[in-house]
Amino acid sequence: MNSTNFRTALLVFTVLFISSVSLTAQDKDGKTIYPGAVWPDDHGNHIQAHGGGIIKLGATYYWFGEYRAKDNLPEFRYVGCYSSTDLVNWKFLKKIQFPDPENLGAGWVLERPKVYYNNRTKKFVMYMHLDDRSYKFARVGVAVSDKVDGEYKFVKSFRPLGLESRDIGQFIDDDGTSYLVFESRPTRGFYIAKLSDDYLNVAEQTCFISAPLEGGAIVHYNGLYYAIGSALTGWDPNPNKFATAKSLEGPWSEFKDIAPPESKTYGSQSTMLIKVAGSKDTTVIFMGDQWRPSSQWDSRYLWMPVEIGEGKLKLPEPKPWKLNIKTGQVKVENK
Ligand code: DGJ
Repeated sequence: MNSTNFRTALLVFTVLFISSVSLTAQDKDGKTIYPGAVWPDDHGNHIQAHGGGIIKLGATYYWFGEYRAKDNLPEFRYVGCYSSTDLVNWKFLKKIQFPDPENLGAGWVLERPKVYYNNRTKKFVMYMHLDDRSYKFARVGVAVSDKVDGEYKFVKSFRPLGLESRDIGQFIDDDGTSYLVFESRPTRGFYIAKLSDDYLNVAEQTCFISAPLEGGAIVHYNGLYYAIGSALTGWDPNPNKFATAKSLEGPWSEFKDIAPPESKTYGSQSTMLIKVAGSKDTTVIFMGDQWRPSSQWDSRYLWMPVEIGEGKLKLPEPKPWKLNIKTGQVKVENK
């Protein structure tokens, strides 16, 4: 090869290399969800809403989660709040700052925040897992705001049903009844508890699911309830499992893998199941976290539509996909 040919070959290689790089996470067409990629908000910053929860008000979705940016001040914990009308493009609304509310000390923990809107009191009620650095406090914290992205004032912490509570999940049934899902280590399982009328407490135990799982997520689909949970392996991924029941009270079926166990849920952990009921289809989205414990600001999200129905639930291999929020239809890239 002479030097001109060599330079041409190098140029072609460089162009091909650059375009292949630019076709990764950052190459957003505004319509595609890229599981496991950096997910920029409307300012171009990676979304900070880990271990999150989503509520829909009118046509707008609000995503709350742990805001774990690199420049967070060590004495505070933060909750990120974002909005979207298509579940793909997210507008940054607010970073909600919480001082240590219960003298939990250095390394205190605020995880998995979930916000509910109470139609009776017209208040937004945030639940959070509150803990000290050794996870002994094991309580939920409650904060209230008049606006979805307003000033959340810390109200109290408590142990739901008098029990230790670590990972929390949020479930709002089709009739609007709201539940807190919480993991209880001493009883090895997770509880589904109906919230009180003002949502400031849990009113009653709806069910205890006797399986040592956390990251509890529930969805109601075609007459069946599906519950997903992950094994108790800290930040490390594990094979998440699902069970079904005709009623939230149970009885629940045995738990089965949602994905090939060796994939460890494709490196993710369950946090929520979102149901999008469109004009043509109803899609259920698995919302999982791919944790990066030593660089939490860079933890990723694994969102994929699941294959669900007739008592089965499967998380397919993650691939880029598009959602039509009006019809509820999805298109998964075939590569
Ligand atoms: C697993 C939980 O699901 C996370 O929310 C977090 O509490 C980690 N454990 C801490 O190790």
